[in-house]
Amino acid sequence: MNAAVRAFVRRGWELGLAPIGIRRGYAGLIEGDMAPLTPRDVGGVIEYGGTFLHTARCPAFLTEQGRRKALETIEREKLAALVVIGGEGSLKGACWLSEQGIKVIGLPASIDNDIKGTDMAIGVDTALNTVVWALNRIRDTALAHERVFLVEVMGRKSGYIALMGGIAGGAEIVLVPEVEVGLDQVAEEVSAGYRKGKHHSIVVVAEGVTERLGPTREIARFIREKTGLEVRVTVLGHLQRGGSPTAYDRILGSRLGARAAEDVAAGRFGHMVALQRGELTAVPLSQVGRKEPAIDLGLYRLAHSLGK
Ligand code: F6P
Repeated sequence: MNAAVRAFVRRGWELGLAPIGIRRGYAGLIEGDMAPLTPRDVGGVIEYGGTFLHTARCPAFLTEQGRRKALETIEREKLAALVVIGGEGSLKGACWLSEQGIKVIGLPASIDNDIKGTDMAIGVDTALNTVVWALNRIRDTALAHERVFLVEVMGRKSGYIALMGGIAGGAEIVLVPEVEVGLDQVAEEVSAGYRKGKHHSIVVVAEGVTERLGPTREIARFIREKTGLEVRVTVLGHLQRGGSPTAYDRILGSRLGARAAEDVAAGRFGHMVALQRGELTAVPLSQVGRKEPAIDLGLYRLAHSLGK
């Protein structure tokens, strides 16, 4: 997200805009927590993950009072336009603001890659590379001890990180919320791998799966009892949401941020700047929602045939 803010500020200045940074997302908009940003203010931020403006889950923005306050801030501070960087929830908020007559542009950012209308979102590639980095290390110890590892990754509703991380990291099995699989089948597939000569098994579990199958450590206990194999669990958690962004993410963020500045300067609003087949395009905010399913089911089948 830092790359996107930096690009917006620098391209915006070039086009005669006066960018302002709102701290902590909608929370800062409600409270009026903001400051002008010059090209020098965004120096050096491109190599850092997260966002130097901070961010927040903001339940207040879901209330009528919170939304009224946000509109008051926009009027009081004479904000000519608003650029919202975030996931499906943030972009829904952007759509609501647009419906109230505010000039809004959305930029997609969610490591779950579940935003409808864009092939990629800011942060996805960096998170995936972190998962692959972790799987490489886990495989070394799994192989040495001939163990089964369950690796829980983020994705409460989306199996994208689990699936793509699993393919890139060479996992044996990938469990995603979009596809229902029973525990017996998982245990049988793990056993089958050992019978065919494998010395380890890596099962990538998307966080959302645990709502149906129970906590990952319970899935591990089941597999241990069914197969007699040694099973360990690693939960990657929030380390997937930080770290120096990959080149891909920096370039994507830069392109999206710069396009947002160009759209503001040209008076184009009410859309999310999206990436489709490598090209930037505008998707009306009213059409932005959750991608369902968030994964390509063909790639899901590929992951399992490659893990055999
Ligand atoms: O943005 C979505 C997500 O990355 C989910 O995959 C994950 O479960 C969630 O965020 C975690 O959110 P929080 O950091 O607020 O617990």
